[in-house]
Amino acid sequence: MTVHGSFPGSRPRRLRVNPAMRRMVAETRLHPADLILPAFVREGISRPVPISAMPGVVQHTLDTLRKTAVEAASAGVSGIMLFGVPEEDKKDATGTAGTDPDGILQAGIRAVREEVGDDLIVMSDLCLDEFTDHGHCGVLDGQGRVDNDATLERYAEMAQVQADAGAHVVGPSGMMDGQVGVVRDALDTIGREDVSILAYTVKYSSAFYGPFREAVGSSLKGDRKTYQQDPANAREALRELALDLEEGADMVMVKPALPYLDILARIAAEVDVPVAAYQISGEYAMVEAAAEKGWIDRDAAILETLTGIRRAGANMILTYWATEVAEKL
Ligand code: PBG
Repeated sequence: MTVHGSFPGSRPRRLRVNPAMRRMVAETRLHPADLILPAFVREGISRPVPISAMPGVVQHTLDTLRKTAVEAASAGVSGIMLFGVPEEDKKDATGTAGTDPDGILQAGIRAVREEVGDDLIVMSDLCLDEFTDHGHCGVLDGQGRVDNDATLERYAEMAQVQADAGAHVVGPSGMMDGQVGVVRDALDTIGREDVSILAYTVKYSSAFYGPFREAVGSSLKGDRKTYQQDPANAREALRELALDLEEGADMVMVKPALPYLDILARIAAEVDVPVAAYQISGEYAMVEAAAEKGWIDRDAAILETLTGIRRAGANMILTYWATEVAEKL
């Protein structure tokens, strides 16, 4: 039997007929300026070291970090988020290397600023886990628990040292209570009202951080469940959000991205500040691994994940694919 006449009355397929039509009606677009590249700089190496769980991503020398920053800027990427990996024997209980003006992260910030000036927004991870010998994001008390307020003092110092090195933006990521307020105060005290804070507002305790722990040579045994959020909770995210905004966050971030798009959408609906999402190491590894096995169309999958994150409400996306994607857009 032939279907004819006025049935079906509605034909959404009309707007999908060809690429030009689909492009015209697309509600979400990706632009290089939406993207921020996270990058690792490691002390004491003379050539880049590949990260096995993140094929295509390396721990940079200061030299290759400069090159990577220039490539990102030329591709139109907006920012770079820097992580420092100190020499193993420089790690200690309080993460001294994180506040050493000559520490590797500060050296990385200076090198990138020297290279790109203001063409790329230089952001620094503000956390102690890369620098502590126990691998936690803070300092420990007598019973081995992460001591919130003692850690805040370390973060204050870290913020000042990172600002001195030239960070445009600092990203407190340790999930200590009060961290945004303390960092804001510390920056203002040294006259750096110009440095902004990208708050890791909603940071879940995630299995998808696995590859990152290799990337920064983390010494952590155990987990971060007493400070990072429980994946089961959404209301708690709104509470963290309210606190961060009250304490002076200029931008807020949700992390990881893909398993938490609902949280991202809720936050994006609530706020009047820019919202970032961090597509983390495990999200990267998942796609790369499946692609390597030939189980997934790599490039299409990458664009689909990024589009989904934008659609859910992120203005900015931190992604290890930033430069590659920006070049293709
Ligand atoms: C903490 C920090 C982590 C990541 C960014 N900042 C690790 C953690 O909390 O365990 C993870 C990023 C990624 O997995 O790509 N300094």
